[in-house]
Amino acid sequence: MKVRVHATIANFGPGFDVFGVGIGEPYDELSFRESSEWEIRVKGHDVPADVRNTAVVAARALAEMVGENIALKMELKKGIRPRSGLGSSGASSLAGALAMARVLGVEDERLILRAAMEGERAASGSAHGDNVVPAYYGDFTIIESYEPLRVQRIPVDFEVVAVLPAVEIPTSEARRVLPPKIPLKDAIRNIALASSLVLALKENDLKAVGRLLDDRIALPYRRRLMPWYDRARKAALEAGAYGFSVSGSGPAVFAVGGDVAQIGKAVAEAFEEFGIEVDVYVTKAGRGAVWF
Ligand code: HSE
Repeated sequence: MKVRVHATIANFGPGFDVFGVGIGEPYDELSFRESSEWEIRVKGHDVPADVRNTAVVAARALAEMVGENIALKMELKKGIRPRSGLGSSGASSLAGALAMARVLGVEDERLILRAAMEGERAASGSAHGDNVVPAYYGDFTIIESYEPLRVQRIPVDFEVVAVLPAVEIPTSEARRVLPPKIPLKDAIRNIALASSLVLALKENDLKAVGRLLDDRIALPYRRRLMPWYDRARKAALEAGAYGFSVSGSGPAVFAVGGDVAQIGKAVAEAFEEFGIEVDVYVTKAGRGAVWF
């Protein structure tokens, strides 16, 4: 049995730790079967090929949650680069949780997502859900609450280009630069952006979505980790993008609207000025996990 779990864009502009959306590329693929002991082989990007792998962590977490003691033999095709801001650890975590769910016949979505978040905890120290939740549904997702886990969803289907520069920013480092408090005017601005963005997505108004892709909670502090950010954004907007922002905690960036392939090229050229190579993914938002 095989499951494919796609990359995700967490935060999606103003929704720090709350919004996320699944995109079609890149993705991880996990094939698996029941086994007497844990085993994982990894192809593609370099991630641990042992019990530290988030796919194993999440699969074990789900088995423990339902009081079962079985192991899986897994093969992971790691298509999402780690420390990319594209939900790499979340995708493997969800794939592991889904694999175990399939073997055990677990259908409770919340349990599966909780187990996947345990993979995230192992990877980054916090059991966040803004990658695993959109990776599961594909939709634009809003994590309304964690206790209990409540998720709001808006089905979406629009083109997006994600550009991944050949630099790494671990989420833990991107979180360390955030202050414990933010100015009231920034909080107010983010509420305005986030609430308007939800409406724009509901109304399928991509121009408004693009206009609202800004953030006053994390971006002002993370910019110094991404000295190329303003240049890349300018290139995207000049090439016709409706909006541009950081994917998750970066370094990946994304743009919506206009000719996304052309925008991807323009952003790649901007990175070239900094001597940084990139991978460009011209893809679609609204892609969830699939069995095949
Ligand atoms: N929302 C997280 C952050 C990244 O921006 O730090 C993805 O979980």
